[in-house]
Amino acid sequence: MSPKTHNLFSLFIMEKAFWFNSWELEGHYTSFHRKDIHPYIVKHLPPFSLEGKSVFVPLCGKSIDMLYFSHFAQRVVGVELIEKAVLQFFDENQRPYKRFGNRFVSGNLTIFCCDLFSLTTEDLGPIDIVYDRASLVALPHPMRMRYLQTLEQLTPVGALTFLNTVEYAPTLPSPPFSISPGDVSTYFPNYVIDHVESPILPNHGMVRKFNLSFLIEHGFLMRKLYNSPVHIDVEELAEAV
Ligand SMILES: C[S@@+](CC[C@H](N)C(=O)[O-])C[C@H]1O[C@@H](n2cnc3c(N)ncnc32)[C@H](O)[C@@H]1O
Repeated sequence: MSPKTHNLFSLFIMEKAFWFNSWELEGHYTSFHRKDIHPYIVKHLPPFSLEGKSVFVPLCGKSIDMLYFSHFAQRVVGVELIEKAVLQFFDENQRPYKRFGNRFVSGNLTIFCCDLFSLTTEDLGPIDIVYDRASLVALPHPMRMRYLQTLEQLTPVGALTFLNTVEYAPTLPSPPFSISPGDVSTYFPNYVIDHVESPILPNHGMVRKFNLSFLIEHGFLMRKLYNSPVHIDVEELAEAV
């Protein structure tokens, strides 16, 4: 392993430790978790649009948005690194489940408790919709590039993605990272992007906590048009660390 790749590898280990500690400490360390179903999905992915569809929720945490999808879609697949989050999801929502290795199955809902970067299209099965809320924004730049490359490989042409990001100033060095509509266009060059939500939220908790000058919670409905030829080189990524 070259020194650069070693740096990148160390970053991945640090990232895992960061999320493990967040779920151990809970409280404001897991304040990204919402107690309600996100209003954007009720509006932009209404029940009829989910009929017969398979929904993929990368970096799912214990999001109850998965209950909404499980209710109206045919199949839901989440992936979450930290087992405590997965166990809390089933426990807090009284969903009985069966465990098969790293797969937790409850009716039409499966959560893989593993690293997203180890998932294959065979693991996932057919996917119609990808739902990313607080996932892309959770990752620092080198990890974000790897996440985008993994999503590119896992998302079939024609699939719909609902992406939710926050944009704010001044930027912070920790999650959630600020991601603007311009960044989204750069990250998803092979998608047609409909920018469907962009309210300025002066009362958002982060505005008070970090004395931000503004915060916008963006919503994007995006359709994948073709596979991207972009290949992200691990050595190149390591340069950015
Ligand atoms: C900011 S939280 C968002 C959770 C969820 N999307 C939500 O809206 O509540 C990011 C989640 O991604 C998980 N995570 C981070 N890196 C991951 C990886 N490489 N593979 C799978 N899950 C990961 C973390 O444990 C954490 O639960």
